Amino acid sequence: MPESAENMPTPPAPETRNPGEPFEVAVLALQNLTVFPETVVPLGIGRPRSLAAVEAALATPEKLLACITVRPDRSDDTDAKRDDLYEVGTLVMIKRMDRTENGMRIIVQGTERVRVRQWKQEDPYLRAEMEILPEPNVVDSEHVEATKRNLQQMITEALALLPNVPPEVRIAVLGQVDAVRLSYFLASILNLGVEEEQKMLEANTADELVRAAHTSLTREVEILQLRSKIASEAQVEMDKAQRDYVLRQQMRAIQKELGEDETGEAAETELLRERLEKAELPDEVRTEADRELRRLQRLPPAAPDYHVIRTYLEFILELPWLKSSEDKLELAEARRILDEDHYGLEDVKERILEFLAVIKLRPDTKSPILLFVGPPGVGKTSLGRSIARALGRQFERMSLGGVRDEAELRGHRRTYIGAMPGRIVQSIRRAGVNNPVLMLDEIDKLGNDYRGDPAAALLEILDPQQNNSFRDHYLDLPFDLSKVFFIATANQLGPIPAPLRDRMEIIALAGYSDREKLEIAKRYLVPRQVTENGLNNAQLKIADDTIELIASRYTREAGVRQLERNIGSIARKVALKIAQAESESVTVTAADVREYLGPPRFYPEQARKELHAGVATGMAWTEMGGEVLFIEATLLPGGHGLTITGQLGEVMQESARAAQSYLWSHAAEFGIDPAIFKDFGVHLHVPAGAIPKDGPSAGVTITSALASLYTGRRVRPDTAMTGEITLSGLVFPIGGVKEKVLAAHRAGIRRIILPSRNEADVDEIPEDVKKELQIVFVSGIAEVIDAALEVLVANPPPSPALLDSARAHRPDPEPQPLTVKG
Ligand SMILES: Nc1ncnc2c1ncn2[C@@H]1O[C@H](COP(=O)(O)OP(=O)(O)OP(=O)(O)O)[C@@H](O)[C@H]1O
Ligand SMILES: [Mg+2]
Repeated sequence: MPESAENMPTPPAPETRNPGEPFEVAVLALQNLTVFPETVVPLGIGRPRSLAAVEAALATPEKLLACITVRPDRSDDTDAKRDDLYEVGTLVMIKRMDRTENGMRIIVQGTERVRVRQWKQEDPYLRAEMEILPEPNVVDSEHVEATKRNLQQMITEALALLPNVPPEVRIAVLGQVDAVRLSYFLASILNLGVEEEQKMLEANTADELVRAAHTSLTREVEILQLRSKIASEAQVEMDKAQRDYVLRQQMRAIQKELGEDETGEAAETELLRERLEKAELPDEVRTEADRELRRLQRLPPAAPDYHVIRTYLEFILELPWLKSSEDKLELAEARRILDEDHYGLEDVKERILEFLAVIKLRPDTKSPILLFVGPPGVGKTSLGRSIARALGRQFERMSLGGVRDEAELRGHRRTYIGAMPGRIVQSIRRAGVNNPVLMLDEIDKLGNDYRGDPAAALLEILDPQQNNSFRDHYLDLPFDLSKVFFIATANQLGPIPAPLRDRMEIIALAGYSDREKLEIAKRYLVPRQVTENGLNNAQLKIADDTIELIASRYTREAGVRQLERNIGSIARKVALKIAQAESESVTVTAADVREYLGPPRFYPEQARKELHAGVATGMAWTEMGGEVLFIEATLLPGGHGLTITGQLGEVMQESARAAQSYLWSHAAEFGIDPAIFKDFGVHLHVPAGAIPKDGPSAGVTITSALASLYTGRRVRPDTAMTGEITLSGLVFPIGGVKEKVLAAHRAGIRRIILPSRNEADVDEIPEDVKKELQIVFVSGIAEVIDAALEVLVANPPPSPALLDSARAHRPDPEPQPLTVKG
């Protein structure tokens, strides 16, 4: 610190600085530059006198410094002396100082204008007695205001010609209401030359100042316009790359001038280059990455493309192009893991192990694509996880539910703003290896619309011939998906496009019997909920009959998800009791369930003790598993045709008509008076009318209900049935046997009528259920009627006399076509 600084009065604080009052301050000589009040300017300091002046200023509490410009005719490269300087300058406050290799870099903010009264010293730095100059005063306010508006108008024009001006500048300029400040600001950003700038700084009235600003700006705008005209003409000839290069060079220069550090950017691209060098990449990827890196190095960080390319390169770096995890496949161990994670599902586990065995024997073959189909909560997703664990592979899951756009799977091209990689490669990146188990959940819920069909993209992804060079739009490079072990899940096969289905090995999970649910709950769900809720096995016990009650009355599902949720709510309530020290341990019995879960939510259809003539018990398959349903038919004396209610779909309505026609044409064979078809209408109804039902498998049940109605023989109440019928009286096989039979068993049915051609499906039914059931296989309607109806006529059909009276009531004696009401 210079010694002379110690005994001189420091400049007064801002609030006590008055125009005209003298004070002493260090002076910084500026070359080719004028600082104006209210403006912020970065300055590079290198000359000895300047450095000393800044040091002196920094040593004062106010950190004030006077910036005075060197007269243009005096300026050369030597350190400026007092005679070289103008007399009017700007008092500035040093806001920031950074030391650099060859001096320092400061950022100053102009405060007031000052005039030199008397030079005090020249060495080691310039120092002078100064006085504050008053702010330029407004003489003719209308003139000033008009000129100011004019200025703003011109600025708008100028900005239109300068597309690269940052929006902040635009806002700052156009939002400025003060004519003086606006003029100073303009003077500081326009390159006016020292003399003109000094003239503006010295202007003592606002009128003079805005006029000067106006003149300069007018000239600048004219130059800009001219330049833009020349540029647009030249542009046609100038090759784009060359133009970009020139612009970038200019930008560099400006950045340097502004003191924006370039080292950060350089270091960043350098780092990327090093990472790319070390990364294991296929040749094609490396070539492309290097090309992009070279583009990046030429770009300034402010360019919009800079960020895009950087993100792209980072994504490339994160992708496991060549990185695989090693399979640790021991079949015995795999079986142990599958058994550890899941109860039952023997045949499913068996098939999974078969596939794993193939992978083990021939590691180079393509992995099979598995498709787990079944109702919710039967363990499809969690089996996928187990397979990954058994193989020692990473597991990633993506839900396809509601994916309607191909781009979601395959990404957007990088030319789009905000483009992103597709979900497939994103999952691979998350997995961190190129051979994860990738679960495509809910493949049956895939949508498609005008944006492109995601199923088509999936076809390619799942095609072993093509997926070794899968092209994500964003990456635009081939990625090898052939090592991925794909597992898809679905609730239904129907909505999955056939070509997609053909690529996959279908494994069906039908749902669990009550016994299986109990076992799963005891072994997995209760222990899991106990730990999840911070309890231990001693603190919560749930009795077996309690679990059964929850499964039957609080849930209606083929899987165990609701069951687990209900057990979870019990566990939470018990945890609360224990936390509040109300009890130390709780055993939940069937009698307590209501207290924990409220009143039962479901009263599932139970086998009825007795059925009226015209009512038959059927079995239906729903997405939730199986269900029993009752089909009811009644005669309408004096009516005609077939009235159908209960929201039956078209296929079921057709079954009903076929059943009626068959019985009509074989009336004699079944002992039915044919007159009944002409004289009575039939109303067919399936309760639970709010739920739409469809499918051909109700044919057998409808036939039984109608046969019962027409013969008066009742359907056996212990018997449930399913099967499709044809007009010629054949019974065709149906799907979902296991779910249907389990549901019927749950409902208390002990006798089942099934199509003969479904005999093989019976193997899937758990032994404990099967041994409590009698199963009758049928292949024609006559057999159905024999098996379903009681022999005794309980409720004789209408007598001929009644038929006569019914006939008398009918307005139209001709047989009517069947009418169907929905
Ligand atoms: N056999 C089983 N043994 C043990 N736990 C099971 C079994 N089946 C299902 N679970 C458990 O039930 C829960 C639901 O299973 P998961 O989420 O796999 O169902 P999901 O079939 O994928 O259903 P969704 O079709 O709704 O996706 C899981 O916590 C799972 O561990
Ligand atoms: Mg699932």
